[in-house]
Amino acid sequence: MKFLTLYFSLLLLLCGFVAVHGKIQRQKFVLQDVPYTRLCSSKSILTVNGKFPGPTLYGRVGDTLIVDVINRASENVTIHWHGVKQPRNPWTDGPVYITQCPIRPGTNFSQRIILSDEIGTLWWHAHIEWSRATVYGALIVLPKEGDAYPFPKPSAEIPIILGEWWKSDIRQVLSEALQTGSDPNASDAFLINGQPGDQYPCSTSDTFKVTVEYGKTYLLRMINDVMNNIMFFKIANHNLTVVGSDAAYTKPFTTDYVAISPGQTIDILLEANQQPSHYYMASRPHNIAGNFANTTTTAILAYTGNYTAPSSPPLPTLPNIDDAVSANTFTASLRSLATTDHPIDVPQKADTELLFTLSVNIFECGLNESCNGALQGRFRASINNITFVQPKIDILEAYYKRVTGVYEEDFPGNPPFQFNYTMEFVPRLLWVPQNGTRVRVVEYNSSVELVFQGTNILGGTYHPMHLHGYSFYVVGRGNGNFDRARDPSGYNLVDPPLQNTIAIPRNGWTAIRFKANNPGVWLLHCHLDRHVSWGMEMAFIVKEGTSQDAKMLPPPADMPKC
Ligand code: C2O
Ligand code: CU
Repeated sequence: MKFLTLYFSLLLLLCGFVAVHGKIQRQKFVLQDVPYTRLCSSKSILTVNGKFPGPTLYGRVGDTLIVDVINRASENVTIHWHGVKQPRNPWTDGPVYITQCPIRPGTNFSQRIILSDEIGTLWWHAHIEWSRATVYGALIVLPKEGDAYPFPKPSAEIPIILGEWWKSDIRQVLSEALQTGSDPNASDAFLINGQPGDQYPCSTSDTFKVTVEYGKTYLLRMINDVMNNIMFFKIANHNLTVVGSDAAYTKPFTTDYVAISPGQTIDILLEANQQPSHYYMASRPHNIAGNFANTTTTAILAYTGNYTAPSSPPLPTLPNIDDAVSANTFTASLRSLATTDHPIDVPQKADTELLFTLSVNIFECGLNESCNGALQGRFRASINNITFVQPKIDILEAYYKRVTGVYEEDFPGNPPFQFNYTMEFVPRLLWVPQNGTRVRVVEYNSSVELVFQGTNILGGTYHPMHLHGYSFYVVGRGNGNFDRARDPSGYNLVDPPLQNTIAIPRNGWTAIRFKANNPGVWLLHCHLDRHVSWGMEMAFIVKEGTSQDAKMLPPPADMPKC
């Protein structure tokens, strides 16, 4: 037995340090501009392989996928594999100027997607400016060959990818907002699998329809690629059983609605147990602050059989737009499955304790500018009062090659000013953040506790926070200010959910824990794109350990040049 292990370790070493356990699959992603029509208006959009949404990637637990990204479009791109930990391989993670420079038009980049213990639904999307509005798709990680789901095998799988559509060019929407400092224009429609559904002007033919058979059970793989909103989702007359989120199994629970954050995925069992007919599924935003489209996207669930379909099928009643209670209740219902077959590994103690405040801020308008943000200022956003400024070359390259002057290592572990974060009127003095390209350095293998604290600057809102390179356990949450003396005693260290994106409630806090065992440069950001564009992001540098398997893999030869 020992010999065998030794033999295999040697084999792995010979494979050029890349420990490939599962299968390797290779495919092409060709970026191209293609005309698409929605709501009777047509425009050219950036796509992968001409598809919208893009192609679905499949793998099994532990596989490695290789995607040759070929840029035949007219703009820069990068692709991120959202929720894939990429052990020791930050090189092909994708966030622009964090781990790579853009893939320029006419150039290619072969990206290695190293799956490890993720299981369930993940996705991929562009990670440069607002390109993910059209460049996104599912990444489905099946159990290992011969392994079963921890729930009855579904008859079929149904993707439900929530998206958004602007009639105007998405690059224009962003540049206009950045120029004037204002909130970006709201979209014209929300989408289910690329289709708005028939509740919009001139959209009747643009409806996603799925056929189900009475008595069968289906697995919905839901992904939220909406740019700036948590989304509510519901199917008329049907209950939903949640069984997974962010590529980890959860304790099954039954609900009649879902609240899903941008970046999050939710796996749901749907029993086709109603009178054979047509039913609407519908989704609309949860919104607290900012521009948004007050509209509903729909799709049709159609049973097989002989019946006359109603001309207007039943529509589900979704939670109200501003219903934060429904959103928070859903988020708080997720628990890890935590069985012997699917054990969890929650750090019981933390040796690195961090507290990060999340704020939307205002910069004063420049002298010769006119600004359209709140109070005639310019919207900005910050973590611990630092507004992230993108460097000229990526942080990973600068770190690896020891290039100085690209970033500072002094990102604060605690808020630089302590105040009553959720008080009713936060003094004006605290509204203005500081610009900086700062990272937080974390020791290899340390157990990190990170508490996100919302602030009431400008009234506050929710923030779906996403960490690259890791999944984390969501061990606690609460309203108001986090209290280190009192709140940790209420943590769930038994079956907290394992996620890569977590919505921090408005004027509340959320505590996460993870073991920093993946060396590299890893981005942390709000998954609302307007907040990212205003600077709500930062990066961790997780140091390497001493053993060979605690070091980063070497960079690929075709890394895009800056
Ligand atoms: Cu879904 Cu940094 O991304
Ligand atoms: Cu945010």
